Amino acid sequence: MRRVLGIETSCDETGVAIVEDGRRILANEVASQVAMHAPYGGVVPELASRQHIQCISQLLDQALVKTPGTIDAVAATCGPGLMGSLLVGVNFARALAFAWQVPYVPIHHLEGHIFSAFLDDGPEAVSQFPLLALLVSGGHTCLIWCRAPHCYEILGTTRDDAVGECFDKVARLLDLPYPGGPSIQKAAEGGDPAAVAFPRAMARSDSLDFSYSGLKTAVLYELRDTSASPTDLAASFQAAAIDVLVIKTKRALQQTKAARVVLAGGVAANKLLRERLVGELDAQVILPPISLCVDNGAMIAAAAHSRQTTGPESPFGSIASPNLPLA
Ligand code: KG4
Ligand code: ZN
Repeated sequence: MRRVLGIETSCDETGVAIVEDGRRILANEVASQVAMHAPYGGVVPELASRQHIQCISQLLDQALVKTPGTIDAVAATCGPGLMGSLLVGVNFARALAFAWQVPYVPIHHLEGHIFSAFLDDGPEAVSQFPLLALLVSGGHTCLIWCRAPHCYEILGTTRDDAVGECFDKVARLLDLPYPGGPSIQKAAEGGDPAAVAFPRAMARSDSLDFSYSGLKTAVLYELRDTSASPTDLAASFQAAAIDVLVIKTKRALQQTKAARVVLAGGVAANKLLRERLVGELDAQVILPPISLCVDNGAMIAAAAHSRQTTGPESPFGSIASPNLPLA
């Protein structure tokens, strides 16, 4: 199995990539819809699926022009995500696999994010398991114990908002542009992270679950009741949001005795989070490059290559599933 075409359309990025031997990125075309959704302060599902349809063929053409030659399998994110958007990628991938007479490999979105750590200059996947994954994005906040490739146990997850969603909502409160993560990170530069002592929800509980809706409300009240500057508010919010991720990851490390931690998902682009994990964890921290933290087709191709070569075969079925469980 040499070349896998990977397709990602679960949310607001259309990704089409070709990856060789599960590692080498030959083409990685990503069309972001961020500008289109920005005026609404979040992703509008109907607009997202229409935009995927608009650009997916062109992205495929671009990828194939960069990489002439045969494709050995076609993979797509089959869930979780927005139903209309998932359907575009899944049906496009299945049609290509049928036309080219190659296998279609359905991939779980979070599994794709985990495999983003092994692309290009990352370590080779098979030698890295067991590992702990901290998966942080606009839709997910999870600690996942990965005993072996594709063998997952969810140790903790958010009980309400995802951490990226919280960044996006707080950015709106602070009048910062969407997506909130990068704009809060920028606004926080030069701010005092200790200016406001925002709550670290569930930080003291033994559970590895997260809760982010209270933090968003705390920012709302602070904004209404005090005179802290927007820079200090952004820095204090970011410090609190990231602190909980670091505390819970340390606890999960103690429980699992994992030697390696993979950080993945859109929020993995956060500079403070990256620095704190590398500086404070008693484990090897594998960080995908920032360009591979956002949704992309290469991570889907990498996960599919691993499923096809080391197994087990994908259990996810050939239909799109918005709430697909990982484990
Ligand atoms: O993985 P992703 O591209 O899409 C989902 O699957 O959700 O993640 C998008 C999320 C958004 O909520 C965005 O605000 C957040 O990742 N994000 C960040 C940063 N860059 C993107 N959050 C914090 N700091 C960043 N630098
Ligand atoms: Zn994602």
